[in-house]
Amino acid sequence: MIVRGSVTVPGDKSLTHRLLLLAGLAPGRSRLRGALTSLDARATAAVLRALGVVLSPLRAGREVQIVGRRRFRRPAATLDCRNSGTTARLGLGLLAAHPFSSRVTGDASLRRRPMRRVTEPLSRMGARFEPGDADQLPLLVRGGALGPLTWELPVSSAQIKGCLLFAGLAAGRPVSLREPSGRSRDHTERLLRSFGYSVVEDPRGWIHFEPTGALVPFDLEVPGDPSSAAFLTGAALLAESGTLRIQAVGVNPTRTGFLRVLERMGARIVVEPAGERSGEPVGDIVVEPGPLTSTEVAPNEIPGLIDEIPLLAVLASRAEGVTRFREVGELRVKESDRLGLLASNLRAVGANAAVEGEVLVVEGGTRPPVGRVRTEADHRLAMAFAVLGTVRGARVTVDNMACAAVSFPGFAGVLKGIGAHRRRGRR
Ligand code: S3P
Repeated sequence: MIVRGSVTVPGDKSLTHRLLLLAGLAPGRSRLRGALTSLDARATAAVLRALGVVLSPLRAGREVQIVGRRRFRRPAATLDCRNSGTTARLGLGLLAAHPFSSRVTGDASLRRRPMRRVTEPLSRMGARFEPGDADQLPLLVRGGALGPLTWELPVSSAQIKGCLLFAGLAAGRPVSLREPSGRSRDHTERLLRSFGYSVVEDPRGWIHFEPTGALVPFDLEVPGDPSSAAFLTGAALLAESGTLRIQAVGVNPTRTGFLRVLERMGARIVVEPAGERSGEPVGDIVVEPGPLTSTEVAPNEIPGLIDEIPLLAVLASRAEGVTRFREVGELRVKESDRLGLLASNLRAVGANAAVEGEVLVVEGGTRPPVGRVRTEADHRLAMAFAVLGTVRGARVTVDNMACAAVSFPGFAGVLKGIGAHRRRGRR
């Protein structure tokens, strides 16, 4: 494949969820340009509508208008977060501070994912959950007046952090928390500061939130999602020649760990700064194809590239040497058992990969990947293996490409659009 041209990617998923939820509690009309309109973003919009927030339809290329209210209304029916962990966990934080009961559920994948990591600290603040000992959805949340919280997170996770900060925000209570290893994405902290809330990190790594601000309606533009840009970056690296520019991507350092790893692997990538959007640095990512070498990805790097491991793993299968991703057990509780499926799917297409305890080991090779990939409807697995399928001579069948619409609507078309294939005999 020869890559060429300039592309944009859909709006950032993490920021879209957070901005929609914050707009829902900002009394008045907020406007969001460049918001993600994928299935996950629509899950958040649907939950907000059930809570009395008025939102215009989420359509690609169209501004979203949100008429927020100081407090949510008691929902008439169960809140369905569909496939979206961020909707569920951040939503539970906000619901915990509202004086009514609500039932929260999700699709089969979300109903398998752990929730005690948020219900336990929310219970400490004073919320009640039924069944009390459950780790999974569906759950009944009995919210109300909450107390302050000091909490050490069991894993570095922006969803747990965001949930607890949102609970502090909606309850008007201080919250202090600490992540164990590596810093997860800091979008919530940045956004809360922009509304005048005090969010300070002390030298021992504790993040202290104080309810000093006020939510007011806003008009913001969402940057492109670096996690979506990562797949196109990967396709460009695997190409035979050309250059690809991915425009206006969010390049918050807590999201771009994958670029630092790719640099170590020898990738030719330049980030050209392009200002700021929604309080986040934005840049154009310019990529040229070239050979890659293996690397070691350390435990403290994992939170900063957690969603990019599928893509990095397929690239590692084309790099010279053996790549190790250390302490990636958290991948077992993503939209699928991403750890097990990554290794088995890499083997299914002829690569050497194994899970050794909490370590993912991938050996690089040059044989074209051939085989069938089982995604269990995990969008990031589908997109990562579609990228691997662009290698010359590859014959990779992905069992479900439609699930890419969870985070990147139109992915297959964009991937096709960045490349041209050399015709046989015309070199
Ligand atoms: C997200 C945090 C990450 C990530 C997910 C989005 C967020 O999950 O995997 O896609 O927006 O906070 P964890 O915080 O559970 O690692």
